[in-house]
Amino acid sequence: MTNSLDRALRERALRVVPGGMWGHMHAKDLPEGYPQFFARAEGARLWDVDGNEYLDFMCSWGPVILGHHHGEVDAAALAQLQKGDAMNGPAQAMVELAELMVELIPHADWAQFEKNGTDATTTAVTIARAGTGKRKILVAQGAYHGAVPWCSPSLVGVTSEDRAHILTYTYNDVDSLNAAVEAAGGDLAGIIASAFRHDYGQDQELPTVAFAQAARAAADAAGAALIVDDVRAGFRLDLGGSWERVGVRPDLSAWSKSIANGYALSAVTGNDRFRAATQSIFTTGSFWCGAVSMAAAVATLTILRRDNAIAHMEAMGTALREGLAALSASYAIPLRQTGPVQMPMVLFEDDADRRKGFAFCAAALKAGVYFHPQHNMFLSAAHTGADIARALEAAELGFRAVRALAPVAA
Ligand SMILES: Cc1ncc(COP(=O)(O)O)c(C=O)c1O
Repeated sequence: MTNSLDRALRERALRVVPGGMWGHMHAKDLPEGYPQFFARAEGARLWDVDGNEYLDFMCSWGPVILGHHHGEVDAAALAQLQKGDAMNGPAQAMVELAELMVELIPHADWAQFEKNGTDATTTAVTIARAGTGKRKILVAQGAYHGAVPWCSPSLVGVTSEDRAHILTYTYNDVDSLNAAVEAAGGDLAGIIASAFRHDYGQDQELPTVAFAQAARAAADAAGAALIVDDVRAGFRLDLGGSWERVGVRPDLSAWSKSIANGYALSAVTGNDRFRAATQSIFTTGSFWCGAVSMAAAVATLTILRRDNAIAHMEAMGTALREGLAALSASYAIPLRQTGPVQMPMVLFEDDADRRKGFAFCAAALKAGVYFHPQHNMFLSAAHTGADIARALEAAELGFRAVRALAPVAA
């Protein structure tokens, strides 16, 4: 594997981009050998700037759900681009997309479009406050809802006033949820919960029916909004919204990542109870009418439904999970595999410092498979049975690398 162009670009970036790269996509947080810069991507594969090819299990951290550079989605986007993207208002694609989402998502009576997941969660919180006239928002401890002061995981540059009306609870813990509701007193505007507990570097946890029902009941009792943040999981678990799997419908949902197979778009959907509030708040963005991403989203959602893509991702994810479990048993190196199979989180037992996870991923990367050592991964509809077999061959090299690690001195 060569990396000379990647190294040169990192040096140039350091001079003109603070830190060379921002946020959690900084390659410094990954094992040695991971590239920072990419040149192209196709289907389940991507190539870094030095020409190294990888079988991709991050899918651009979620957005790529049908596979990179998908022919039908790109054709829809290109057809729209040739007609116009940034105009003085939206194109017809906006109405088509809203109609499609209202059809697919049982709780949705309407949809509104933005650009990033952070826009969508922040707007949902604003709608909850506008619709209830109350201030407190309950957020699960450790959950990620975006990169603005009310929810950023870092407190650098954030004031306590920014968080004055944010209270926390523990995901899947009904008692802690009810305690937070009580602490909100008569001032509860909304409860926001991720599709499932997918905190960085932690075992993932699907919502229990009891927790989802308790959140619904608490919101109803207080006249507050129940908000599901489906930005990360949306359309990978259920086209109608991830909490359809537990039979609980939110008032508002935030969507983004995979809605347009990689084109920048987000959405808030909601029921009629919050229609007037949504109309009443001031929210806008220079690029929120962009027609290309909306055309791409119409194509993406149509194909997901037509091809029953979730079932395919589940089958591939199950094959990967079972293969990894078999390797883990044969090498006697215990793994913890959590979360939905199509969004796998793979952690090693006794690996608080991630030594094992890093050795595993570095060896797999050398064999051309791009795993992540501490963030949930993503499958797309482009992964095939042959890809999973190849991933498991690389994983075997990963297990050997873990077995070869020097014991930690006592
Ligand atoms: C659950 C969840 N909510 C919100 C966001 C923020 O989305 P964005 O990065 O598009 O602003 C993310 C991004 O990873 C996310 O995973």
